[in-house]
Amino acid sequence: MDKLEVIKKPIEKGLSEFKALFDASLKSSTPLLDEVLGYIKQRNGKMMRPILVLLMAKLYGGINDSTLHAALSLELLHTASLVHDDVVDESNKRRGQSSVNALYDNKVSVLVGDYMLATSLRHASYTNHIELVGLVARLGQDLSEGEIIQLVNISNRDFSEEIYFDVIRKKTAALFTASAESGAISVNAPKDEVEKAALFGEMIGIAFQIKDDIFDYFDNEELGKPTGNDMMEGKLTLPALHVLNTCANEEKKELALRIRSLSASKEEIASFVDYVKQEGGITYAEQVMYDYRNKALALLPEAADEAVRTALTAYIDYVIKRNK
Ligand code: IPE
Ligand code: IPE
Ligand code: MG
Ligand code: MG
Ligand code: MG
Repeated sequence: MDKLEVIKKPIEKGLSEFKALFDASLKSSTPLLDEVLGYIKQRNGKMMRPILVLLMAKLYGGINDSTLHAALSLELLHTASLVHDDVVDESNKRRGQSSVNALYDNKVSVLVGDYMLATSLRHASYTNHIELVGLVARLGQDLSEGEIIQLVNISNRDFSEEIYFDVIRKKTAALFTASAESGAISVNAPKDEVEKAALFGEMIGIAFQIKDDIFDYFDNEELGKPTGNDMMEGKLTLPALHVLNTCANEEKKELALRIRSLSASKEEIASFVDYVKQEGGITYAEQVMYDYRNKALALLPEAADEAVRTALTAYIDYVIKRNK
């Protein structure tokens, strides 16, 4: 069995019910909206967040209708955030096809993203758990806050790893926190177990974004989205920050600041990427990613069902070893 099969094995039935609900949720009688939703739907993501919701529900009980609507709400919120993210990042590819902003335009992307966000909240309400509605609403705030802090950080003159972690905790890890937490809440797990689940999700989410940021340093057709985009939009991620804080001279730091202010040339960015690799930036980021993987493993909740624990362990491994 490959890793994905191990991960999905205990939740096969739930996952196929989830997929049917997901497809059915993205429809409209307004032709343009329906067309764009259909376009988005034709390429699935990896579905990391709903898989985590279902596994956590299974760990603490059994998958029920609330679990499915929570999973749906979170995948819709995630997908909406990608549609908006590609506008903000001026990115032209997503899941191996043109991004919505590239195929249509920014206006359509903003509006369709909003529609999906509202659909996400509707499904949160269908869980009939007021706590889950609050969780999704707060999550939406975190995602936006993370993106705003990231945007403002471009004009920062220091290379703070603390701000980097604050950003990724909010823009990415918060969704994994919410996924693990809502899976547990949907089956009425005890409060201390819900808290443990949340922390477990957060550790996975931080590792997930570090991996994504490492992807950006290398060509990768399989990824289905552009790489080399982060510095093009002034974003310095963990590999670069580490090198800047440990061994860069004034000249390199000046170049990094010009990258942030979007005034460096493509050639300068390419040379800075090489420099970060040469100085061990990627190796360092990988180490940190492994640290978070170990933290997640240590937090893996005890459970009766061995297949679920095995699946969750495989899930953590997949987050750090995946090729896309
Ligand atoms: C992309 O998430 C956004 C990040 C948090 C890096 P995924 O890599 O899970 O995207 P899909 O859903 O599989 O396309
Ligand atoms: C990931 O940010 C978090 C989101 C809000 C989507 P990125 O901008 O790095 O995500 P990708 O690389 O475009 O998927
Ligand atoms: Mg982005
Ligand atoms: Mg992006
Ligand atoms: Mg990225």
